[in-house]
Amino acid sequence: MGICELNRIGDIEVEIKEIEGLRYLKAHNVLRRPLEFRDLMLSWPAENKEKSAEEGHSFSGSKSPGLQQPVERVFMTFLGYQLYDLCKQYNFLKYKKDAITWKYYTNYYYNGMRAFNKNYLPHVDPFSFAANIFVTDSSEYGTSFFKYVDPVTKKSFYSMAGVMSSQEEIRKRYTDGLSKWYGYEISDPDSLIGNSKDAGMMQCTNGDSEWVYYEGDDFYQRYHFLPSSFNSLSMYRGNRWHSATFDAKNSKRGRYSMVACIL
Ligand SMILES: [Fe+2]
Repeated sequence: MGICELNRIGDIEVEIKEIEGLRYLKAHNVLRRPLEFRDLMLSWPAENKEKSAEEGHSFSGSKSPGLQQPVERVFMTFLGYQLYDLCKQYNFLKYKKDAITWKYYTNYYYNGMRAFNKNYLPHVDPFSFAANIFVTDSSEYGTSFFKYVDPVTKKSFYSMAGVMSSQEEIRKRYTDGLSKWYGYEISDPDSLIGNSKDAGMMQCTNGDSEWVYYEGDDFYQRYHFLPSSFNSLSMYRGNRWHSATFDAKNSKRGRYSMVACIL
């Protein structure tokens, strides 16, 4: 039991909602000992994403900025079981317990952190579900979800896969927009810089730049925001455009979370 223990399911406030097809679980009062859990997290070695992204050595395929700490799965076995039980209680996950493989790491965003390849822009995750447990009080920040509305047909899209399976002219307007708005280009398929999965895809390749407090623009519209309040959990499927909302210029506190991903 001990330090990774969640509160009793009845004591955790859970909401499950679906907004524009985004189904998510938001829970409050999640960990029984959030501060002790944070102390444990602080003791692990961290990877500086600014450096590792530049060198192409990041342990995870995550687009997250700041600092990340990989956490060996066996240390969090109990956390995974409890998260599963919570989701099962509310019918949030369809998977069988044994069919799930979790991957764990932390994210720490801090004042002054930088962006790499404009990673404040919307992305989709390389895993299925992401669960974030926040151990700092940073409810003004959180996770934002975005859509792209085709200017001609007015159709809404929630992921690159959605756009790519639509008509050619929609695809073209979208990819042209990426180039025009953000300077996306087709990356060199042989490049080893950054995430190798992105090689040959449309992406930003500008490397290091200032982190932007991104809440959407005329290209990507934000349709939902999940705040990262203390001891809360946000869980969603990572196949829809989303990004970390954090003000790296005016933040007094960092935003620190434990991430449990379902592979
Ligand atoms: Fe993500």
